[in-house]
Amino acid sequence: MRKLVKNNVSWVGKIDWELDSFHGSDYSINHGSSQNAYLIQEEKTVLIDTVWKPHTTDFLDNLAKEVDLNSIDFIVANHGEVDHSGSLPALMEKIPNTPIYCTANGVKSLVGQYHHPEWNFKVVKTGDSVDIGNGKSLVFVEMRMLHWPDSMATYMTGDNILFSNDAFGQHFAVEELFNDRADQCLLWEESIKYYANILNPFSPLVKKKVEEVLALNLPIDIIAPSHGVIWRDNPTQIVEKYYEWSQNYQEDQVTVIYDTMWEGTEKLAHSISRELSLLSPQTRIKLFNVSKTDKNDIMTQVFMSKAIALGSPTVGQSILSSVGGWLDFLKELKFKNKKAAVFGCYGWSGEGNKELRQRLTEAGFDVVDAEIKCNWNPREEDLADAKEVAAALIS
Ligand code: FEO
Repeated sequence: MRKLVKNNVSWVGKIDWELDSFHGSDYSINHGSSQNAYLIQEEKTVLIDTVWKPHTTDFLDNLAKEVDLNSIDFIVANHGEVDHSGSLPALMEKIPNTPIYCTANGVKSLVGQYHHPEWNFKVVKTGDSVDIGNGKSLVFVEMRMLHWPDSMATYMTGDNILFSNDAFGQHFAVEELFNDRADQCLLWEESIKYYANILNPFSPLVKKKVEEVLALNLPIDIIAPSHGVIWRDNPTQIVEKYYEWSQNYQEDQVTVIYDTMWEGTEKLAHSISRELSLLSPQTRIKLFNVSKTDKNDIMTQVFMSKAIALGSPTVGQSILSSVGGWLDFLKELKFKNKKAAVFGCYGWSGEGNKELRQRLTEAGFDVVDAEIKCNWNPREEDLADAKEVAAALIS
């Protein structure tokens, strides 16, 4: 269904209420999502991005109700990932010679995925522009590694709309479409989750790109990303947030994360949380069992934290696989400037803490010396070690 964005620009995407995961199962979706595509009808008719393949039929049917597909002068493919390009092959069957504007890496990803090197690609780089009539033009801005090497944004002069693709998006279904109409709690919860779990590894590039875009001093009335809300009320508030989030972001929060076999390591986790709150009542303390809480939601809390404590019992001379898998994802997200402490129970050999320490160090955390390494079930003196761990994390 078409929805008006501004003047001759419409939203023609898919609100995906049923979606429950993304990137395979690597990203949990709690409040739906959307794949936003846009139709510009100036003297030139332009389609910006498409939607994911399962929604192709609806997408093309709806688009055909808005515009004769043969009148589309060109397509902009801001990013080749399948959630934005999945309907492109079916569309190109109907309008095979239509030019596709994308980056050089965009050609690589689209040809690699769909095997149509004969498509009429028009390679663009930062600063290139196309006149779309009525005194307006589209200006392309490469967004390399935000979050793929092929990513770019497209700026529409005259209406001052930045089609930012994945940047500034959220996995969040909003029928009302605009940021001022959305549930504000969920909007910010989903925005920070998206940044923490998708963009954080590229934070140094985010900072540079935001500085570069702000230096252009372009008037921005609307930021129209490819997921979630369209930012029309104070649109640059999300740019300012990205700038803040890109600089080793942290709040006065400590997060305790663990898994447990027979509740021993769980008792240690609770004792560390208790000591943290006694020592620093103003600090926000969160506690999660990695097997019982969604990993992406825990990562968002890690992103917001200045320190974490991570616990696992020793098993098979190592740690529980739930904690091991979680650590793989933690390393991928490249958090910086955060402290960590380790804790865990063991019955026989006790390698768990050493493994946790090594893997947290590899993930970029500053691991403090204080730890709790508890033989069998925790006694009072083991729980007392939690004071030392809390003090090292808070200092
Ligand atoms: Fe929304 Fe990188 O795809």
